[in-house]
Amino acid sequence: MLRNKKILIGVTGGIAAYKIPQLVRDFKKNGAEIKVVMTDSATEFVTALTLSTLTQNEVVVGSFPRLTESILQASTWHIDLAQWADVMLIAPATANTIAKLSYGIADNSVTTLALAMRGPVMLSPSMDVDMWNHPITQSNISQLQQLGYHILQPAEGELASGLTGAGRLPDLPKIQQSIENLLAETNRDLIGKKILITAGPTYEPIDPVRFIGNRSSGKMGFALAAAAVHRGAEVTLVTGKTHLTTPRLVKRIDVVTAAQMYNAVMKNKHNKDSIIMAAAVADYTPVKFYNQKIKKNLQDKNQFIIQLKPTKDILKELGIKKGKTVLVGFAVETENEIKNAKMKLYDKNLDAIVLNNPTEDGAGFDVETNIAIFIPQKGNVEKLPKMSKYQLAHQILQRISKLIG
Ligand code: CTP
Repeated sequence: MLRNKKILIGVTGGIAAYKIPQLVRDFKKNGAEIKVVMTDSATEFVTALTLSTLTQNEVVVGSFPRLTESILQASTWHIDLAQWADVMLIAPATANTIAKLSYGIADNSVTTLALAMRGPVMLSPSMDVDMWNHPITQSNISQLQQLGYHILQPAEGELASGLTGAGRLPDLPKIQQSIENLLAETNRDLIGKKILITAGPTYEPIDPVRFIGNRSSGKMGFALAAAAVHRGAEVTLVTGKTHLTTPRLVKRIDVVTAAQMYNAVMKNKHNKDSIIMAAAVADYTPVKFYNQKIKKNLQDKNQFIIQLKPTKDILKELGIKKGKTVLVGFAVETENEIKNAKMKLYDKNLDAIVLNNPTEDGAGFDVETNIAIFIPQKGNVEKLPKMSKYQLAHQILQRISKLIG
């Protein structure tokens, strides 16, 4: 699995840095090519000479290569290294580096490379238990996850400080396995492909302060966008209101209503290899928008009726003239699931539909996992097990990639 894979390791200044030479040897034994960049503080724990000898490659320390000895291009070495690597692993990742990455600070070779990488970046945090559990570290980790960085949870046990808890660098075979899984997962099968994804809810305004919305969080659509970038695609994401952070390298277009989503999709649908409608688009919108806030006293005391009219079905319209674009919809069903989803698939002329039942445990709105059934127009219905939305995104994209051909 690791044969000829190019792994860039960023080493930062934690005690677990002493384990990295052995990790390099293990990776190399399995056929990988390794290059290392490290921070100045990392050199307090392990030397550049050790890592350069083991990798048989130049190691960049601090912010720049040592120009007198370097074979790297003086001005573009970071871009060259970022493009060289299939994957970047930051191990150990200190609380300091994690905080810098969450703010996009690029003040040394490790943080710069993490910012310049197009392929996947995995962090293996290692620090003292209280630093790991600190709310600011946890908040930075969550921010990085939303941005599409992969986090290897630290192992629990005795720490160098004498304290016990989470914060250890996981065993080296586990790190190696995670990199193998990540490389397998992030097959670069969408390089050069253009994909339009929609996400989140739409809000249909009633008056200046009220709207009709739905419980979609946007997590599935954002996971698809992050995963598609990791597979090499050029991604445009049209999203309704969410609190989520835009994944790296994604072109984001914000909309509020179903009509705005319709316009944004129609404007950006051209030359797309695939369009994936993960958004929960309102089927109905108020007939009338009240310019002023509706007062409770003005209405009939017993009932207040809001009249609704249908919105345009974006997917259905795309399906009418879809050409070669692979069109994928999402269906939320709570009964006769497969039958109903198949009806949508044929009615909207889709290449595939992803079916969810939000009432199942571990599926639905605002949770991190999902359980889906992939129904292609041609081929077998596949029930996928419960997994994270990001992993599910890869499962879906792997199938879409085959449909694109
Ligand atoms: N969709 C769309 N435009 C709309 C409504 C939905 O493009 N105006 C898309 C959704 O993004 C999703 C798929 O169509 O990919 C869902 O199909 P739909 O028939 O709208 O599902 P429901 O709204 O769940 O329909 P129903 O309420 O009848 O089950």
